[in-house]
Amino acid sequence: MISGMTAHPTVGIIGVGAMGEALRRGLERAGWAPGELSLAVRREDRATELSSRTSSLVTLDPKEAIEGRDVIVVAVKPRDVGGVIEQISKSLVTGQMVLSLAAGVTTTTYEDVLGEVPVVRAMPNTPALVGEGVTGIARGSHAAEAHLKRATEVLGAVGGVRVMDESLLDAVTAVSGTGPAYVFLLAEALTEAAVREGLPRDIAEEFVHQTIRGAGHLLTDTDTTPAELRSQVTSPGGTTAAAVHVLEERGFRALVEDAVQAAAKRAAELGQQG
Ligand SMILES: NC(=O)c1ccc[n+]([C@@H]2O[C@H](COP(=O)([O-])OP(=O)(O)OC[C@H]3O[C@@H](n4cnc5c(N)ncnc54)[C@H](OP(=O)(O)O)[C@@H]3O)[C@@H](O)[C@H]2O)c1
Repeated sequence: MISGMTAHPTVGIIGVGAMGEALRRGLERAGWAPGELSLAVRREDRATELSSRTSSLVTLDPKEAIEGRDVIVVAVKPRDVGGVIEQISKSLVTGQMVLSLAAGVTTTTYEDVLGEVPVVRAMPNTPALVGEGVTGIARGSHAAEAHLKRATEVLGAVGGVRVMDESLLDAVTAVSGTGPAYVFLLAEALTEAAVREGLPRDIAEEFVHQTIRGAGHLLTDTDTTPAELRSQVTSPGGTTAAAVHVLEERGFRALVEDAVQAAAKRAAELGQQG
């Protein structure tokens, strides 16, 4: 490494809740040194608690957290984004970029206040906590290839990253951003059903969780389509056929479509509140 150069883009994270914390842990796991990270929170108790777990700078002042940082990650709720933009607007300097994780908040929301600052908007998901996230990213009008590369480097610490047009990000929010909740709801329902069928709860949980994990691996680690994988466990007149018949008859696919549509609509609405 050339003296004076850092191995990674330095990162300031504003808002260290579920997603900011997932990213902080992912970056530490991926080899970011504590000195390459700064963290801004808004409550004293949170600052104390966080400081006990990291030697990175923890501050209540977002302006301090962004000082000297290459990438400024905005990881607060959409409704708090406007306040954060105001707080940092006078302190951003040339060479810095903003990486926004806020659902629905457009790059123009930032540009309208910050001017010609490179903004990359991202939609990650909570499996980022275990390094298994997937994130869609899109560039604002002042962001170049190099900024997308930098954003990819940072978010790559917590999973896969795909560049796309910003118009697709509300759909990504509804599918992968919200998606883990659909799977967890399925896990809850399947576990309750298993208990009703007589399985002890601990066995029900173990089998449901491992089934979801195993099915996920089959989807990602083989070239087989979901329909083919499903047909492999469906013998004519068998148990899977009986179960799938009930799901199809009760409108499972239409229900999923409506749920995803509702999430995408809500993502767009949340962005407008920013
Ligand atoms: N969770 C997900 O599944 C998910 C997925 C994709 C994208 N996102 C996006 O990620 C963003 C964060 O979501 P989250 O689930 O991590 O929310 P969260 O757990 O509520 O975290 C947000 C954190 O930001 C802090 N905060 C708010 N304003 C601040 C400020 N001015 N300065 C410093 N810290 C501030 C909050 O502090 P307090 O504790 O005091 O409220 C909170 O700890 C959202 O915009 C969301 O759309 C979330």
